[in-house]
Amino acid sequence: MTNEDVTLFTEVDRTGDADFFIRFLDQGNTNPYIQQSKPIILDGLHLREGLRVLDVGCGTGTDVVDIARRVGSSGAAIGVDISEAMVAEAQRRTTGSGLPVTFEVGNAMQLRFEDGAFDGCRTERMLMHVPEPFRAFSEMVRVTKKGGRISIFDFDWDTFVIDSPYRDTTRRIVSSFCDSMQSGWIGRQLRRMFLQNGMIDVAVVPRQIFIGFEFLGLLIGGHLTRAQRAGALDPTDVKKWWEELRNSDSAGRFLAGFTAFIVSGTKG
Ligand SMILES: C[S@@+](CC[C@H](N)C(=O)[O-])C[C@H]1O[C@@H](n2cnc3c(N)ncnc32)[C@H](O)[C@@H]1O
Repeated sequence: MTNEDVTLFTEVDRTGDADFFIRFLDQGNTNPYIQQSKPIILDGLHLREGLRVLDVGCGTGTDVVDIARRVGSSGAAIGVDISEAMVAEAQRRTTGSGLPVTFEVGNAMQLRFEDGAFDGCRTERMLMHVPEPFRAFSEMVRVTKKGGRISIFDFDWDTFVIDSPYRDTTRRIVSSFCDSMQSGWIGRQLRRMFLQNGMIDVAVVPRQIFIGFEFLGLLIGGHLTRAQRAGALDPTDVKKWWEELRNSDSAGRFLAGFTAFIVSGTKG
C-alpha cells in the first residue's frame, strides 16, 4: 500500500513525489486490460502517415510514441501535460528516438494551439482529473480540424466492483474514492459530451478493467489513508476490509474491476 493519493494527479508537481505517479502509470500500463484497450483508442483516431495528432494529459508519453510510429516522419505527435515532471520524463524517454514527437507543459482547459491545428486529438485517463471536463473537451474540439477525429479513454469510478463480504464498507469506499476524483462519473458522460459538441459518427466501446490486489493498494491505498485521517472512513472497518481482501487474494479468489469507456467521433 501507499500513502500517495492518485486523486492528486491534478497536481503531480506539488505532491513532491512525482516518481510515485510515474511508477503508478508504468505499472498501470502493464495491466493486460489496459494494453488491450490501447489499439482501440488509437483506431478511433483513424491514423495514417502524415497526420498531426495531439495527446492531452500525455503523462510519460507512451501513447505519443505509438502515435508517432503510425504517422511517420511526415506527421507529428505532440504531447501536452500539466505536470513538468511528466513532460521531463516523456522527453527523457524519447530523446534520441528519431521519432516525430514533441512534449510540452500545458493545461487541457486552455490549450495554446490555434483552431483546427490537428487532424486528431486523444486523451486517456485525464478527464477524470479535470474539474471542468466539458470545457477541456471543447478545447480538444476547437484545436481539431473539421473532419478530424477525437478518441477518449476514461473510467467511471461508480462502476467499481470489489468482491468483499463487507458490502457497506465496500460501498462507502467506492463512493469516497469516486467522489474525491474531480470527475469520477466522466465515463458515463463522455458520449453526451461528444454529442453536445456537435461530434458525429460517435462510437462507444466499453471495456471492463480487472486489477490485482497489489494494484488495488496503489490505486486506492493513499486515498483511504487520507479519508480515514479526515474521519470520513472508520479505520477499524477499513482494516478488516483490507485483511479480508488480502486473504481472498492468497486464496486465489480476489476480484476487483471497473468500467472504462472508449469514445471516438468525427468533428462535424
Ligand atoms: C492518470 S495520468 C494518464 C497519463 C497518460 N494519458 C496515460 O494514459 O498513461 C493523468 C495525466 O493527466 C495530467 N493532467 C491532469 N490534469 C491536467 C490538465 N488540466 N491538463 C493537462 N494535463 C493534466 C497529469 O499530470 C497526468 O500526467
